[in-house]
Amino acid sequence: MIATFDEYKKEYQKSIENPEVFWDGVANEFSWKQKWTKTLEWNFEEPKVKWFIDGKFNITENAIDRHLPAKANKTAFIWEPNSVDAEHRIITYQNLYDEVCKLANTLKSLGIKKGDRVCIYMPMIPEAVFAMLACARIGAVHSVVFAGFSASALSGRIQDSDCKIVLTTDGAYRGVKDIPIKAVVDEALEVCLSVKNVLVYKHTNTPITLQDGRDLIWQDVVSKAANTCEPELMDSEDVLFILYTSGSTGKPKGVVHTCGGYMVYTCYTFQNVFQMDSGTEVERSRNLFWCTADVGWITGHSYIAYGPLLAGVSAVLFEGVPTFPDAGRFWKVIDKHKVTHFYTAPTAIRALEAAGLDFVKPYNLDSLKVLGSVGEPINEEAWHWYNKNIGKEKCPIVDTWWQTETGGILISSLAGVTPSKPSFATLPMPGIQPLLVDEKGNEILGNNVEGNLCIKFPWPSMIRTTYGDHDRCKKEYFSTYPGLYFTGDGCRRDENGFYRITGRVDDVMNISGHRIGTAEVESAINAHADVVESAVVGYPHDIKGQGIYAYVIVPSTTKDHETLKKEIIAEVNKIIGPIAKPDKIQIVSGLPKTRSGKIMRRILRKVAEGDVSNLGDTSTLLDPTVVDEIVKGKL
Ligand code: WT7
Repeated sequence: MIATFDEYKKEYQKSIENPEVFWDGVANEFSWKQKWTKTLEWNFEEPKVKWFIDGKFNITENAIDRHLPAKANKTAFIWEPNSVDAEHRIITYQNLYDEVCKLANTLKSLGIKKGDRVCIYMPMIPEAVFAMLACARIGAVHSVVFAGFSASALSGRIQDSDCKIVLTTDGAYRGVKDIPIKAVVDEALEVCLSVKNVLVYKHTNTPITLQDGRDLIWQDVVSKAANTCEPELMDSEDVLFILYTSGSTGKPKGVVHTCGGYMVYTCYTFQNVFQMDSGTEVERSRNLFWCTADVGWITGHSYIAYGPLLAGVSAVLFEGVPTFPDAGRFWKVIDKHKVTHFYTAPTAIRALEAAGLDFVKPYNLDSLKVLGSVGEPINEEAWHWYNKNIGKEKCPIVDTWWQTETGGILISSLAGVTPSKPSFATLPMPGIQPLLVDEKGNEILGNNVEGNLCIKFPWPSMIRTTYGDHDRCKKEYFSTYPGLYFTGDGCRRDENGFYRITGRVDDVMNISGHRIGTAEVESAINAHADVVESAVVGYPHDIKGQGIYAYVIVPSTTKDHETLKKEIIAEVNKIIGPIAKPDKIQIVSGLPKTRSGKIMRRILRKVAEGDVSNLGDTSTLLDPTVVDEIVKGKL
């Protein structure tokens, strides 16, 4: 582990001068059944990236078995339920082994084999992590779908990767809500022919209907399965999982991650960024990590499930939401379990800041040592509030920049080791070679500059392909600037060479740290029978970071606009899910288009931002008068 700024500089230098030797050293820390014969093969043209070639191993052996028997009684997870009155659960590394093996055997008995795709649509309960690891144990590919997505979004993802089985629960608790998850799965499966079985974990006792021959109750079958299961021997480049994420065009794409590089990189970044292994043995034994993300997103995959388990630490798994039963819940949980390392999103920080300090004061937060932020740029105001009121100005803050496609953290300070600066992700991790380019793709050299963020050299956990459509992977990430991986983010490099991410430069919005493509929301809105056309942009939102602003053309109908707006929101809920619902809908009679029919989003963005004084050149518009109407009707 890197322990000083000087060590970081040396490690970084080594990783750039001789990446293969550097990553060999990191990968050697893991348990392999067969060592790799070649460290790296790559080109960013096809693109093709392979790490630790011919290496054979199983990631679950490294995340579980490797810690046994030494850590058999060590807590892997403390599960904190949604309700404050319900009992928390402790899952030790031995429990984890038993549960993962039992579930792995169950999946096998249902005919799931290496390479088969398994959809996991579950709330934040330990079984969701067991499910991911059980898949990995037998070499099946998991595709976790966030349980807040609608039936239609779920079926799209199941169909895209032809999942054979869905693992789910009867219901899910989220704050005051009790969501009938199984009913959503039933609806989704009406159009999914590939699914042969549904395994339902009974969690809320919500009434469900079981389809004969297809649906099974988890507890009934898993309890009968054996609690040992030989791990499937996997190749470094075998697929570990698919995770869908929004892009700038069309439907979500399945980002593919493979076993070897993902294991090495998530563990390495987890250990170095959060520094849970520093301090005395007693201090280390008390360390408790808590990442508040959902396993439905990459943050949950890399820094709830895989990273912490590979590192053999103890972590909290939280079912609830930050504001239930009140805005003190996070702080209450930190106090209750004595969390030492806390990792959350700026949107949560802003929401809890807005609720006021009375929700923080009742709790003792002295256990905290390190704070983290992820998902969107953290504004200075939120950074300072977090630092002062939660970290009491004694906890380093790591602002970790990365993406679903990067698998792990690429730019971040190392807690207490490298300098941090409010609203800056700061420096690249060893092995990461960022560069800024201008619109034409020319590298912008020097400091105090701004441009589009690209990465010029592969790292172990980078995206390998988009499932079933390699061309899409090439187009999205490797074609804008040939020879480079393009992140889609804008970025500034300050006088010290520290990086500050300024936000997306493509048609992707970041709503409460969740990525949503404008095209996806538009197509959902357009599904409403009365909608002729729509254009969606993000606008600054105090809590969410960005809100969704929709301009919608409807013919002059008899329906009043308020009813129509409600129906449009319902349509988006149905097609994508509540996270994508527009915050503002402005009914317009036309959209600003160029003569070639392209919508000028720049203008729509400016209006939504409330910056109408300087709309730039509108002379190329087909009909400039629509701009006046849009400005007048701004919400
Ligand atoms: C996009 C990736 C992987 C984390 C969860 C989101 C934005 C993420 C930061 C940060 C500024 C950030 C970027 C990125 N983003 N972390 N620390 N500072 N922006 O993963 O859904 O794949 O979204 O989130 O715009 O491209 P994701």
